[in-house]
Order: sequence, then structure tokens, then C-alpha cells
Amino acid sequence: MNIVLCGMMGVGKSTVGIKVAELTRRRWFDTDTVIADRHGRISDIFEYYGEAHFRELEAEVIRKLSKEDELVISTGGGSMMNHENCELLKQNGKIFFLKASVETLLKRVLIDETRPLLRVNSTDERLKELLAERTPVYEHVADYVVATDDRTPDEVAEEIVSLLQKAKK
Ligand code: S3P
Repeated sequence: MNIVLCGMMGVGKSTVGIKVAELTRRRWFDTDTVIADRHGRISDIFEYYGEAHFRELEAEVIRKLSKEDELVISTGGGSMMNHENCELLKQNGKIFFLKASVETLLKRVLIDETRPLLRVNSTDERLKELLAERTPVYEHVADYVVATDDRTPDEVAEEIVSLLQKAKK
């Protein structure tokens, strides 16, 4: 069984994922990092090949990772908008939706130039739109919803581990 983290960009999926992997002694993969290692920077892929091409690469990585076991997988913010990705990740994984308010997300992402979806139209409105569109999908696919506002990555990671332990009992 894999541990899968989903949620909006900037919510801390990678930082928390690394910590969960340490606590549970699992291997950690981040879909964006796998794509970037193979194909170059995410912002360049968006710029030169377009978002649709990026989504194909993302789906390909998810197909591969979801066949493995005992991983922690941090997904890119848009991954769960593809139904096939959700199905594959759910087959062999527990999905944790890391939830944050728009204020928390704004603090973390608007200064980050590497996020192509926000770079072109770097306004609160775009982030709010994405949040409104995606929150119901994250909530639907998730086995657990974990609040992250005003909490450290360590606290969030510990909650995830404790939810998993409770589920085993
Ligand atoms: C995206 C989020 C990014 C990355 C890409 C698209 C999105 O990942 O996959 O820029 O659609 O929300 P993070 O959620 O890790 O920032």
C-alpha cells in the first residue's frame, strides 16, 4: 500500500512527504521531481510543449509509481484532475488531502516563480479559481483530509502516520 499526498500547490506535499517517508522508512517520490529529472524543468515543459504535454508526462509517471508498493508519493497539484490518475493511485494507496486556506496558500506560492500555472496570471483570483475547482475533487478522492493551516510539516506528517496506525488497529 502506498501513501499518496494530494492538494494544492504550495500546501507542502513534498516537505511533508519526505517527513512521512522518514517516519515510515519508505521510499519517497514526487511526481514533479521524477518528471523534471527525466525531461527538464517543469516551467520549461509548460512553456515549450504546453500543459497538455506536461499532463501526459504526469500520467505516465503515475502509471509507473502506482504499480509499486510501500512508497510515499507526493503528487503535483493538478494530478487528481485526471480520473485515470485517481483510479490508479487509489487501487494501491491511501490518499491524504492536505488542506489549506487560500490565505495560507497565497503566502507560500505567489512569490514562487517556478509555478507556471500562476506565473502568467499571478493573482489571488487565479489561485482562488483553482482552489474552488479542485477542492471537491481532492475531497472526493481522499481517504483522509488533513488540515495544515498554522501547523508545521512535522505536525502534519505525524498526524498522517497516526491516522495510518489507527486504521491498522
Ligand atoms: C501544478 C502544480 C505543480 C506542478 C505543475 C502544475 C498544478 O506541482 O505539477 O506546475 O496544476 O497545480 P505542485 O503542486 O507540487 O506545486
